[in-house]
Amino acid sequence: MRSPATGYDSCVNVKLQFQDPAGFATPLLAVFAVDIATSAADAASPALLTTSDALAGAAAPWLVSGEFKAAPGETLLLHAPANMRAERLLVVGLGRANTLSIHDVRKGAGVAVRCLKPRGLRELAIAFPEDRALADEHMDSLPCEGAARALAEGALLADFEIDTYRSEPSDKSVHAATVLHRETDKHSEAEMQKGFAEGAIVGESQNFARALINEPGNVLTPTELGRRAAAMAESCGLACEVHGLDKILELKMGAFACVTQGSAQPPALIVLRYTPPAPVAEAPLLGLVGKGITFDTGGISIKGAENMDKMKYDMAGAAAMLGAMRAVALLKPAVPVLCVVCSCENMPDGRAVKPGDVVTAMSGTTIEILNTDAEGRLVLADGLHYAKTLGAVRLIDAATLTGAIGTALGLVNAGLFSNDDEEAQRFLDTLPVSGEKFWRLPCTDDYKEQIKSQIADIRNTGGSRYAGATAAAMFLREFAGKTPWVHLDIAATAWKDDNEPWQSRGPTGIGMRSIVEWVRSYSQ
Ligand code: BES
Ligand code: ZN
Ligand code: ZN
Repeated sequence: MRSPATGYDSCVNVKLQFQDPAGFATPLLAVFAVDIATSAADAASPALLTTSDALAGAAAPWLVSGEFKAAPGETLLLHAPANMRAERLLVVGLGRANTLSIHDVRKGAGVAVRCLKPRGLRELAIAFPEDRALADEHMDSLPCEGAARALAEGALLADFEIDTYRSEPSDKSVHAATVLHRETDKHSEAEMQKGFAEGAIVGESQNFARALINEPGNVLTPTELGRRAAAMAESCGLACEVHGLDKILELKMGAFACVTQGSAQPPALIVLRYTPPAPVAEAPLLGLVGKGITFDTGGISIKGAENMDKMKYDMAGAAAMLGAMRAVALLKPAVPVLCVVCSCENMPDGRAVKPGDVVTAMSGTTIEILNTDAEGRLVLADGLHYAKTLGAVRLIDAATLTGAIGTALGLVNAGLFSNDDEEAQRFLDTLPVSGEKFWRLPCTDDYKEQIKSQIADIRNTGGSRYAGATAAAMFLREFAGKTPWVHLDIAATAWKDDNEPWQSRGPTGIGMRSIVEWVRSYSQ
């Protein structure tokens, strides 16, 4: 069940059990298959990732005939399979064995869950992908803890739907997904349970973020975002403060304040804190900063009507950070984390900020506003500076910042910018675990011209149609200063227009999983 009032508050019950999948009674049992052909030029050679003879026997005729090739997302559904208690056997293709990644497993679990929906089925079991089913030459070993984590995440993410506001929503929710691994040694079982439990936390947290992003602007005002953040913090044991305009003015956040001044909705400055039970020695305070524009009309530099409705998701950076904080609170890494979300609307009005206006940011930097639609960098400027004044010594921000990032990288990779190679690499190192795609783009002094103002310290647009995403990053870099900082531009990847076999269209929750891993990297 999903409730618009509280966000995504229930999801598939995911479990990991150690027993033979053939002996498990379920409406549908999913098993994974890979293609062991070594090059794209060779004919497909599908093989099941299971050591169960019953499962292998049931699928054998389709694998041998070449009707099923184990391509990514390909499925084969068999009714009343012999020698097992499942009513149906679903074979899910994961693609080539020699390039198999944890993310392929995540997507495979998602495909299995989404196969239930058009059939009105509510429960399934998934046979754990067993790498020992294949000879070493065909496939590298699959880390069992990582695979367990990916299965839990994939199943949870696949259940998420966006139609929460239909009067009679087509309830296709999946109630239970049980992952089955044949009994093995206690050490491996403990590792898998740990990975699985972590995956459940991360998957639920990502759905929490996606539900926020999916909310319309009239429901999810800055005030409501503050309420949801506070409720989440309360339930997970995080400290939370939600401040209004008075505090923003008292802190002299002139950049944030000028964006909200044209809106009838009050802004919200949301601050969350996670304090670890036992921090590692010299643990740095990590600062997570999110762009929380609950609706971006462009302001006086107003956007065109086409696709303006999409600008409800201009708070996806904030949602990624709130989702990450939820996961951090439950995973309990040994490093303290601070989160600052700057939330407001960007509206045109008699009182709105105008092109040509000059404002003073909390840092004292003066900013010439040349385009009021470049508002994200303004709120983040004060958010980054505020996080530093609260003690953060490493910074990361996430924002739907520029249309230009889509021009540069398409809908595939999100953009990463940094003032510190080591910090950028630390973030990029998380990607094999998170399965997310980020590509680093330049943010060096070569681009300083982009933010030079004739009358103030800096201006808020690049002033040309070139390197727009870098221009925005250069602006933010001024406020990160010498503090190691990573900026994630998720404008083109935070929302998907089309369904995918493993997940619904709509909010993706991009960034959250990698940010959680980035935090955890400091915990070792
Ligand atoms: N919120 C937009 C960026 C955006 C675009 C997010 C598409 C999601 C999808 C941002 O505030 C914006 O309007 N940026 C301008 C900057 C320009 C005025 C320098 C843009 O990208 O056009
Ligand atoms: Zn804008
Ligand atoms: Zn915006």
